[in-house]
Amino acid sequence: MGGTPAIRLVGVHKEFPGARRPAVTALTIDVPEGTVTVLVGPSGCGKTTTLKMINRLIEPTGGHIEVEGVDVMEQPRHELRRRIGYVIQQAGLFPHRTIAANIATVPRLLGWDKRRIAARVGELAELVGLDPELLDRYPSALSGGQQQRVGVARALAADPPVLLMDEPYSAVDPIVRAHLQDELLALQDRVHKTIVLVTHDIDEAIKLGDRIALLNVGGVLEQYDTPEAVLRDPASPFVERFLGAERGLKRMALRRVADVGLSAGCVVAPSATSVEAAAVMDRYGVDWVGVLDRNELRGWVWRHDLGDGGLDGAPCHPFRATVRPDTALREALDILVTSQTRVAVVLDDDGAYLGMLTIDQISEGVR
Ligand SMILES: Nc1ncnc2c1ncn2[C@@H]1O[C@H](COP(=O)(O)OP(=O)(O)O)[C@@H](O)[C@H]1O
Ligand SMILES: [Mg+2]
Repeated sequence: MGGTPAIRLVGVHKEFPGARRPAVTALTIDVPEGTVTVLVGPSGCGKTTTLKMINRLIEPTGGHIEVEGVDVMEQPRHELRRRIGYVIQQAGLFPHRTIAANIATVPRLLGWDKRRIAARVGELAELVGLDPELLDRYPSALSGGQQQRVGVARALAADPPVLLMDEPYSAVDPIVRAHLQDELLALQDRVHKTIVLVTHDIDEAIKLGDRIALLNVGGVLEQYDTPEAVLRDPASPFVERFLGAERGLKRMALRRVADVGLSAGCVVAPSATSVEAAAVMDRYGVDWVGVLDRNELRGWVWRHDLGDGGLDGAPCHPFRATVRPDTALREALDILVTSQTRVAVVLDDDGAYLGMLTIDQISEGVR
């Protein structure tokens, strides 16, 4: 990252002939290389128009757009489009071509030989999680989710550095959509494209975007920032309304256990006496204590089960609410509120004890 942004919109303006107001107004956005920027806003706010101006399916009436440092108006369209993959709603596959032929569209236009094309098609099927058996079928034989994977494979065929996606998941049901979103994030971890994705769904924007650009009617930019920053600090009443309810919960979905301070936790060594254990419980204001044997948390015991024998004689209950440093705070909260001790135990990948997380700490972490 750093350096010249992969895509740069500077004061971009679009007025369609005869329209009462501009579709896009003075839009300035830098999209850093290798990141996902999501354009989000209500229907008709100029998202599609903006996307199509990047690959010159539509030409701006003002301002300028650069892709990898070159003005899109100053280069032949076919050269520009070779560097830009384009994915649209319902994938837009050619119905009379097989899946393999659909994916091979651009490589064929570029004159690749058959073996190279076949190898690339196989590679792409693997990349987007498409069963190779489907390659000889026609689009109508595939589910909406599968067609969408094919659309992504086709867009990536010639390995363009930039990928534009227009409402790619709006035609599939919520469960498939969630899968496809997860797949896109996993795919992006491997290919590191510069992606501009359009959606009207704020939750999709928050989930997928490294940054989100919130557009108002007329293509007016209201805020452009990370999802975290937008949720923390909405720039306008419009943004606040668009983010909707549960802003705190949405932020918790983005922040991780490792982002907040853990407490050492209400724990004692197995050798502690009942008096020592009671003192620790008093300090934490709870009626149970965890038993920590070096870095292994054995479980917890009730205060009222402690007798003269200390921890030895008392029944020890396992902690069921365990999380990892990379667990989202929202999930940690869910786990925590259902646990008997009202804390989540944080363990590392080897199961070693790192500390405990309480509701108060989560609340601090998102404040
Ligand atoms: N080809 C066109 N001719 C005239 N007006 C258009 C055209 N395409 C889009 N518009 C208008 O521009 C505005 C933005 O449209 P669009 O970019 O498709 O919005 P979005 O994708 O955010 O729903 C809308 O008011 C729409 O009616
Ligand atoms: Mg649109």
